[in-house]
Amino acid sequence: MSKRKIAVAGVTRKIAVAGATGNVGREILNILAERNFPADEIVPLASRNSVGQKVYCGDKALTVQALEDFDFTGTKIALFSPGGKVSAIHAPRAAAQGCVVIDNTSHFRMERDIPLVVPEVNPEAIAGYKKRGIIANPNCSTIQMVVALKPLHDLAKIKRIVVATYQAVSGAGKEAMDELFDSTKKIYSNAQSEPKKFSKRIAFNVIPQIDSFMEDGVTKEEWKMKVETKKILGADIAIEATCVRVPVFNCHSEAVNIEFENPISVAQARKALEKADGILVFDRPAEMVFATPIDVSTQDAVYVSRIRKDDSVKNGLSLWVVGDNLRKGAALNAVQIAEILVKDFGF
Ligand SMILES: NC(=O)c1ccc[n+]([C@@H]2O[C@H](COP(=O)([O-])OP(=O)(O)OC[C@H]3O[C@@H](n4cnc5c(N)ncnc54)[C@H](OP(=O)(O)O)[C@@H]3O)[C@@H](O)[C@H]2O)c1
Repeated sequence: MSKRKIAVAGVTRKIAVAGATGNVGREILNILAERNFPADEIVPLASRNSVGQKVYCGDKALTVQALEDFDFTGTKIALFSPGGKVSAIHAPRAAAQGCVVIDNTSHFRMERDIPLVVPEVNPEAIAGYKKRGIIANPNCSTIQMVVALKPLHDLAKIKRIVVATYQAVSGAGKEAMDELFDSTKKIYSNAQSEPKKFSKRIAFNVIPQIDSFMEDGVTKEEWKMKVETKKILGADIAIEATCVRVPVFNCHSEAVNIEFENPISVAQARKALEKADGILVFDRPAEMVFATPIDVSTQDAVYVSRIRKDDSVKNGLSLWVVGDNLRKGAALNAVQIAEILVKDFGF
């Protein structure tokens, strides 16, 4: 059987991908094919503007249908990334038609009866889909951080985190990637470049603002990292975050300082991280081995580098964490949840 084949004999399983023409949706289709997800029909959905367009799941061309007009009756699982406002309308509609939705947008994440899941961290929360028929996928910068934090939290109980992010433009959608490309080209040809998706020029710059400002001066992205981390780890950890957009096409990087309740050595932390699922410890400073976005793009693992003592607090460690925001930060995490629904819940 071809490695790219998406059908499994004897299984009747139809799934939908909403937002299939976007950055996350296209990556979901790639990952479904790569992992031989056991579906015998995959329906790509997007806005009415994209109806009839072809998208690819492995080597199979699929024709896009309109999310608005799609009837989810008979579809077992839908992986959603059409934007928060669109999910707000169509995810509950799909759930009411008997389809379980795994939603990548921020719309449902903090609702109490919606599970917010990272399979390496809190897979037990998936069972909560039964309440509303919706499972939320966390924010991309939160996912990679909690994957790295979980084994350390289990070892020495985290008290406080200070994180600064260096987030790629792919996290802001396909138009944002075009804007970095175009504005870089224009600067080389001395042409004017006005920002559209970003608040300032993104080429040769860094922007300490992702999503809107809240009343207290914190951005929504920073707020999401704080509240989502607590919900996923189920712990009242103090968190300070500064989220920064950088002119990198793909992969988010994070400088994380962690204060623990209990003592933890660098060697203990390294051992726990090496044993944990979904993490690659990439950390041999003497040989200049540490992760950068270019090393990690297209990789599934969250890369952890620069593991060292933070002497500014009693029990402190510092880490450098890099993840592919379109894969583990969105599409892969959602597909892993779908795989658990199939394996453990009989979907
Ligand atoms: N990029 C990331 O790293 C990341 C990570 C986690 C979560 N997310 C979230 O995932 C969502 C999508 O992100 P993205 O980066 O994939 O954005 P994107 O590249 O801009 O793609 C947006 C997708 O949504 C579809 N869409 C827009 N309006 C629609 C409508 N009215 N009805 C149906 N489909 C509609 C688009 O279809 P058309 O092509 O037809 O317009 C496209 O397929 C956002 O909420 C984002 O916050 C993104």
